[in-house]
Amino acid sequence: MREGTRLALLLVLCAGLGVALAGEPMRLAVLMPAPTLAPVAPSPPRPAAPADEVHPARRALELNPIYDASNPAYFRLQRMDEATRDMKRDALGFPDWMAALRSGAIAPRADLLGTGKMNVLDLDVVMKNTKEMPYVLFPHQSHTLWLDCSNCHPAPFLPKNGVNPVSMSAIFRGSYCGMCHDRVAFITFYACNRCHSVAQDAALPKR
Ligand code: HEC
Ligand code: HEC
Ligand code: HEC
Repeated sequence: MREGTRLALLLVLCAGLGVALAGEPMRLAVLMPAPTLAPVAPSPPRPAAPADEVHPARRALELNPIYDASNPAYFRLQRMDEATRDMKRDALGFPDWMAALRSGAIAPRADLLGTGKMNVLDLDVVMKNTKEMPYVLFPHQSHTLWLDCSNCHPAPFLPKNGVNPVSMSAIFRGSYCGMCHDRVAFITFYACNRCHSVAQDAALPKR
């Protein structure tokens, strides 16, 4: 993991393994047995939305191609809906992670020990190679709240406006923005306007 990157998943995995880091230099503590916990009462089910109100992007996730539902332990997995039930939703019904971060509903650490700080850059970059679509506004602030410069520079993006050969077909195939969007960040296909947000005739922000 690159320094400064807030990969919540890694943290959760490390915590789950009972790995404790202590002192300088870091050493791994002995693996501890899991504490005996009182069983957690199941949370009441969320009322299901009528099928015609559920967005196709959301229904696609419900198809669940990853897990084996015939495994007896399958029902012990926490459902995404349950874990994120109290979070604000975006227009498609997915959890709005930016809102969760900004409101403090989630507070990921900057590093494993929780002592580091993120290097936040407040710089909007307008990307204009968009044919007839509105220009793309890339917000550094939103990204550097949880990502390090080195996650994107020098690859996949050279840090210079207009020099990167980004196209939608590359994004849909998982390059450039598509390294994260459609995977861990919001789904590209249904949210053109979240990136293409600057009208071509609008006065551009001064850079
Ligand atoms: C995650 C952000 C993001 C989303 C969502 C997104 N785009 Fe793009 N799009 C870009 C970027 C970045 C470029 C390249 C801009 C540049 O290089 O100046 C681009 C370029 C384009 C281009 C011109 C280049 C090409 O490939 O033809 C078109 C057309 C386009 N987008 C259409 C769309 C449509 C339609 C959608 C929704 C289905 C969409 N985009 C969703 C980020 C996005
Ligand atoms: C999530 C990806 C991502 C992260 C993280 C990121 N950047 Fe960028 N950066 C971009 C993109 C995309 C562009 C625009 C490239 C283009 O226009 O082709 C850019 C452009 C830039 C530019 C050029 C701006 C211009 O107007 O020419 C600088 C400087 C820059 N980034 C610095 C940084 C620094 C410093 C950090 C860390 C604090 C950082 N970036 C983190 C994606 C990122
Ligand atoms: C290294 C991973 C990564 C890359 C590369 C990346 N993003 Fe993101 N982006 C994220 C994450 C994580 C979020 C926050 C989660 C979410 O909103 O789904 C985000 C959120 C956003 C948002 C919402 C910001 C807000 O404040 O609401 C926009 C717009 C966006 N990205 C555009 C882009 C564009 C355009 C590109 C390519 C030029 C890009 N991103 C490349 C990870 C990435």
